[in-house]
Amino acid sequence: MKIAVASDHGAFELKQKIVAYLQQKQGVEVLDLGTNNENESVDYPDFAGKAAISIQKGEANLAVIMCGTGIGISIAANKYKGIRAALCHDAYTAQMSKQHNNANILVMGGRTTGIEIAKQMIDTWLVTEYENGRHQLRLDKISEIERSQ
Ligand code: RB5
Repeated sequence: MKIAVASDHGAFELKQKIVAYLQQKQGVEVLDLGTNNENESVDYPDFAGKAAISIQKGEANLAVIMCGTGIGISIAANKYKGIRAALCHDAYTAQMSKQHNNANILVMGGRTTGIEIAKQMIDTWLVTEYENGRHQLRLDKISEIERSQ
């Protein structure tokens, strides 16, 4: 499975730890889309776009993205067709984001989430399966909104 990882400067430190954590997982290939240092201020929509487009093009199956709070980068990522980016804060929200919303991007805040909670969220999100059924009707409505814009 290919997982894209991206952040702005506000979450660079967490992003580096997440890249290292994912790299030691069996069967996971990591695509590190930057940013590459915390000293240069960059714009989170650019990194939301890199991750979203990598999924749209099939270069990644899933993505984990971050900014300071996770708010800006999740708003930006959700502007891309077919992207369901879920800002989560714990293992429960990460689990539900896959089970009910089939989130293809997990979002967190570099200034709000520590690496140990982040690892729990990632582990839970990766093993949780989408429940489908009634939830698909709701995702279809979201796709319909995309089509009608
Ligand atoms: C950058 O300082 C900060 O605004 C950004 O990382 C993010 O928190 C925005 O939502």
